[in-house]
Amino acid sequence: MTSIARTSIAIAVLACSWAMNTAEAFAQGAAAHADDKSSIERALSGAIAKFKGNNEGKNADYIPALAKVPSKLFGIALVTVGGDAYASGDVDAPFSIQSISKVFTMARVMQDSGPDVFLSGVGVDATGQAFNSIIAIEQYKGHEMNPLVNPGAIATTGMVAGKTDSEKWARILATYEDFAGRELEVNQEVYKSEASTNQRNQAIAMLMSAYGLIKDDPLMVTDVYTRQCSVNVSAKDLAMMAATLANGGKNPLTKKQVIDAKYVPKILAVMATAGLYDNSGIWLFNVGLPAKSGVGGGILAVAPGRFGIAAFAPPLDEAGNSVRSQLAIRHVAEQLGANPYASTPR
Ligand code: DON
Repeated sequence: MTSIARTSIAIAVLACSWAMNTAEAFAQGAAAHADDKSSIERALSGAIAKFKGNNEGKNADYIPALAKVPSKLFGIALVTVGGDAYASGDVDAPFSIQSISKVFTMARVMQDSGPDVFLSGVGVDATGQAFNSIIAIEQYKGHEMNPLVNPGAIATTGMVAGKTDSEKWARILATYEDFAGRELEVNQEVYKSEASTNQRNQAIAMLMSAYGLIKDDPLMVTDVYTRQCSVNVSAKDLAMMAATLANGGKNPLTKKQVIDAKYVPKILAVMATAGLYDNSGIWLFNVGLPAKSGVGGGILAVAPGRFGIAAFAPPLDEAGNSVRSQLAIRHVAEQLGANPYASTPR
């Protein structure tokens, strides 16, 4: 055998073993990233056991109906991108979605009108102010905010296609149902309770209309927004909605592509920036997952490409975020190594 032939065989063997090692490495990587059943179950039940005795925080009471929800309720659910569902605690208890709805109305508008309507409109930055701040509107005449604080969220509801409230509403509810993979209903008690006490949101909508960021009747838009906040969901529903985002906009159960995959990173970016209002930075610092809270006590979070997770417990902290839901999701995210910013190989 000539030396050239010997060298060629050596190169071929080397190339072959490199290819095999690469394949093995990918296989191991895939296995390392697969969320195994028993660790998920242990993490979820561990979170409930660890934090169920925590009595910190207080139910929201600025919407009178929310003050009456039993404070002890506590549940957590997780749905993988493969559609496997896990749950522990009070995961079927219905509660109003509240501000978590804002994520899915933003998704509707982005799908219909593209992301630029936000950049040139209400913005995609944190305000550093409370979710219902009027100062935040005045500072930049309705711009330099985002679709997850009330002024931006009410303006986003106004951007949903449809001239009448019923046209807009039908589109919003259908979108939420596609994310959840089942039919949803408005909690009439919460809706009536908020509709009769939402003068501040009406004022916010009037101001956003004065700055040209709400084109339709601002009071009609506020009413549709109030209805979207009153949609009843369970922790299981929210986990499925989060899993749809984790799965590139495709519901892992129904397999329906609810929004284009290209919009999902933009939605998650706004959630990471402003999903827990003025505590969004602390949340991202501690947990690293884009998330969204609601004053009903729900929080959902998204581990892109892996799973959606949601927890429910009514008592809130000062910023309006559920105390036990934050603790529970943080616990599970840590147990499952879900922080996408953690660069240590798992
Ligand atoms: O606009 C409001 O006041 C409520 N319907 C929603 C607020 C909310 O959930 C804020 N969340 N943490």
